[in-house]
Amino acid sequence: MNRTLFTLVPFLVACGSQPDASPPPAAAAPPAAASSAPAAPHAAARAGASATRAEGGEVNPRLLRRFKPVRDTIELANAPAASQALIDLGRMLFFEKRLSKDRDLACESCHHLDRYGVDNEPTSIGAKGVRGHRNSPTVYHAAGEFTAFWDGRAGSVEEQAKGPIVNPGEMAMKNPETVVAVLKAIPGYVTAFQAAFPADANPLTYDNLARAIGAFERKLVTPSRWDRYLKGDHDALTASEVTGLKLFTDLGCMTCHTGEFVGGSMFQKVGVAVAWPNQQDQGRFEITKLASDRMLFKVPSLRNVTKTAPYFHDGSAKTLEEAVTLMGRHQIGEELSPSDVTAIVSWLGSLTGELPLKYIQPPQLPPG
Ligand code: HEC
Ligand code: HEC
Repeated sequence: MNRTLFTLVPFLVACGSQPDASPPPAAAAPPAAASSAPAAPHAAARAGASATRAEGGEVNPRLLRRFKPVRDTIELANAPAASQALIDLGRMLFFEKRLSKDRDLACESCHHLDRYGVDNEPTSIGAKGVRGHRNSPTVYHAAGEFTAFWDGRAGSVEEQAKGPIVNPGEMAMKNPETVVAVLKAIPGYVTAFQAAFPADANPLTYDNLARAIGAFERKLVTPSRWDRYLKGDHDALTASEVTGLKLFTDLGCMTCHTGEFVGGSMFQKVGVAVAWPNQQDQGRFEITKLASDRMLFKVPSLRNVTKTAPYFHDGSAKTLEEAVTLMGRHQIGEELSPSDVTAIVSWLGSLTGELPLKYIQPPQLPPG
């Protein structure tokens, strides 16, 4: 693989001279449209790439505006603000191992909140210690992403939360009715659901369980130095981080990793320039069976990415350096130099935020 291959990828060279004239590809499109063939990434500021490899200079402010500082709460649209009782119930349920068949797995078992919402395993270990086939994405900021799961099979975190509990490879409960029966037998949960859903005649339902978990997840956000930079504090990044940021924008990484979460806003094919080595999991295709959806995955958020190794849906990259090198090769058709990789990784470090330590304290769970 060398740079000549790059010129064989027509969409990447097509629009280099107008870095900012067109909107980001699928990001602006509604999720439904994003399910078909992905918009071709058009290496954003391709034209200036070689010139800006040198340090110094400003980052194009128009490109910078495509990113956004993170919100404090990722509100559920068309819903009243969550009450404290609802959030507290969601936290309990997130930590609740009695929601698994063998009472040994909670959401928190695969999404450790004090480890940036992941398990640091290549792929997650579910019921009976059996390993699944996908890497667990972080729950931080998941509420704000345009869809949940690598293949987008759930629309919101509320919808997502119903999946793992009854997934035989994860928490392995028989069905939602069994889950509700388990919770109804624990008096502390009966009162906690009543407090969280005061207007409901029958508050303890599987849908309400998912609503509570979702409400808790909507405040799992980690503001970082990157947010301070975006809000105008230009001293928030070091010179080498700014160099990495410029590489990220100039090379076209940001055509896919963009917006508030530096990702999480579209599906894209993994292996647009050079086929991805592992073709076992075909991503979005597994759900839609559309040929155009083969190897389409949600572009992951890069917030906290220094903390969420190993990388990719298949956990195939152990280090961030390796992941960035692979992205250069497979997504933009470039063999990145070690110094470019180091600079990009250094900028990615500025996306590592502060954990909300008080908010994620393991709660006291009701006895019974
Ligand atoms: C056995 C480990 C395991 C358990 C237990 C588990 N998860 Fe996950 N979680 C995963 C894996 C693996 C994925 C990715 C699966 C996929 O994309 O197909 C995932 C995906 C997610 C996502 C989507 C994130 C994104 O960026 O797309 C959210 C949100 C989430 N889980 C929350 C939860 C909640 C809430 C619970 C408890 C009800 C839970 N998880 C239980 C392993 C687990
Ligand atoms: C054409 C769209 C596209 C471009 C361009 C792109 N990426 Fe990605 N990126 C993806 C997709 C899709 C994934 C998920 C792939 C997978 O897991 O199989 C991903 C995953 C990643 C990951 C792993 C994150 C994780 O949590 O597993 C990192 C790091 C990353 N990209 C960095 C970069 C960098 C740096 C560049 C520029 C050199 C770049 N990407 C260019 C689409 C893109």
